[in-house]
Amino acid sequence: MKAIEIRNKYLKFFEKHGHKVIPSAPLIPENDPSVLFTTAGMQPLVPYLLGEKHPEGTRLTDYQKCLRTNDIDEVGDNRHLTFFEMLGNWSLGDYFKDEAISMSYEFLTKELGIDPNKLSVTCFAGDEDAPKDIVAAEAWKRVGIPEERIYFYGKSNNWWIAGEEGPCGPDTEMFLDTGKPACGPNCGPDCNCGKYVEIWNNVFMEYYKSKDGSISKLKQQNVDTGLGLERMTMLLQGKETPFDTELFLPVMEKLKELEKVEYIESRRIVAEHLRSSIMVIADGGRPSNIDRGYVLRRLIRRMTRHLNKLQIDLNELGGLVDLYVETLKELYPYLEEKKDMIKEVIITEKDKFMRTLSHGEREFEKVANKAKQENKKLIDGYAIFKLYETYGFPPEITSDLAKEQGFEIDLDGFDKLFKEHQEKSRLGSEQKFKGGLAEQNEQTTKYHTATHLLNAALKVIVNKDIHQKGSNITVERMRFDFSCDHKLTDEEKQKTEDLVNEWIKQDLPVTVQTMKKQDAVNSGAECMFIEKYPDEVTVYTIGTVSKEICGGPHVTHTSELGHFKIKKEEASSAGVRRIKAILE
Ligand code: ALA
Repeated sequence: MKAIEIRNKYLKFFEKHGHKVIPSAPLIPENDPSVLFTTAGMQPLVPYLLGEKHPEGTRLTDYQKCLRTNDIDEVGDNRHLTFFEMLGNWSLGDYFKDEAISMSYEFLTKELGIDPNKLSVTCFAGDEDAPKDIVAAEAWKRVGIPEERIYFYGKSNNWWIAGEEGPCGPDTEMFLDTGKPACGPNCGPDCNCGKYVEIWNNVFMEYYKSKDGSISKLKQQNVDTGLGLERMTMLLQGKETPFDTELFLPVMEKLKELEKVEYIESRRIVAEHLRSSIMVIADGGRPSNIDRGYVLRRLIRRMTRHLNKLQIDLNELGGLVDLYVETLKELYPYLEEKKDMIKEVIITEKDKFMRTLSHGEREFEKVANKAKQENKKLIDGYAIFKLYETYGFPPEITSDLAKEQGFEIDLDGFDKLFKEHQEKSRLGSEQKFKGGLAEQNEQTTKYHTATHLLNAALKVIVNKDIHQKGSNITVERMRFDFSCDHKLTDEEKQKTEDLVNEWIKQDLPVTVQTMKKQDAVNSGAECMFIEKYPDEVTVYTIGTVSKEICGGPHVTHTSELGHFKIKKEEASSAGVRRIKAILE
């Protein structure tokens, strides 16, 4: 059975049982900044699980696009996925355990034709928050599951909540026995040996967990279920992995055809991350250095690196997106019209990353060789941090490379240094003597870096003794005041602008160092009011063109700035000129 048939059967079945089919919410939650991505079908329904009336009634069903990235490092094995589709049905204070269980059983055995003898189920064993779920177990017995295939487990297996706070409750999970031999006398559905595969979860959401950890009863008894489409497709088709189903196969085969070296793991990572990237971008995600954008950036970077590992020409990427859209359009028809936009986002990000990658990989080799010479088995936190700080080389890529060469890696050490670094930046930006940096966001960060480039360019083009006298930045423009005894000529303005753009194009790395103020001054770092700085300062260096004492923050590479344009040059006060400029 194909995935689309499973989805259609599901929706039809629950429609027949009085459910309204509601549309999938976007992967990027609307009006909910607390979560990065939709991770479960229930997420867009939280207000209704808490008691608000849903306009479509008390029985709902849908397919929901989900993204879970907590296991991103596991992708490449035979089962982990970041993007997946979850089929779900909900009772909002309507039916409860008995009806939910009998519908699940009927759908699995009658509609999908699964052999009832291969089904095992698990129920909540009970604790101080909720009793042993005898009601669910009895319901399973009534539909025909024998007692020996009903297992009871505690909260770690049979209690479900999205995150730390919210509606929650005991669940009952359904497992398919793959027929593999048991791994030992205690082998059961909670075992990871691969004999049992979870196929569906019914959560009986009648509780609410508060921030302080306390559990209380909700106004109504809800049912929230989730069935993973990719996994079910794989099982019904008797395939070993989701990558062997029609959802991935055309792309997997194409990769195999294009690759010059064979790495099944890399092929899966490319196929998986490309699919997730396409879905996220289609729903409005864009790569950036924070939150959602960073997750997407990570997916694209990792995919790019593994394309490289397979020695696949990166110019094939556009064609691979086309092929994916073709592969997935039966399930997600809207991808077709977004295809060109998706391609552009992925290819731009890939290009950006390639520059970082070639640089960083060379530097990593040096670190690895040094560690080998010293007979070390560990890449320490400091080395990872240096690669990140100096070359913008992401820790997860360092981690991948390290593992490939058999090294252990101290990510905790990295995290510690990274936090210290962030704290320093924060303290630095609180010093605020560059002024006007209240709106710290990506755009103002770019302008901030552009200020340094402009300062440096004026010294080269106009006069080496020019100094900054002030600056003001908003999300729309930058204003830069500098000492100068004459109105700039058109030629000076043009050449200054050209030089800044040239540096942007060169994609110079922006690096930061902490040092004693006097050492910074001695090293030639520029600053406005030296006496205002603390004894320990941060110094930002851009390639070999600029070095300034500054609190940051800055972009990591100049190519992030886009195109620089001087809009106006005018007098500010005696001996001080002012430039207004934009990035476009
Ligand atoms: N919300 C439940 C899950 O994601 C159904 O497993």
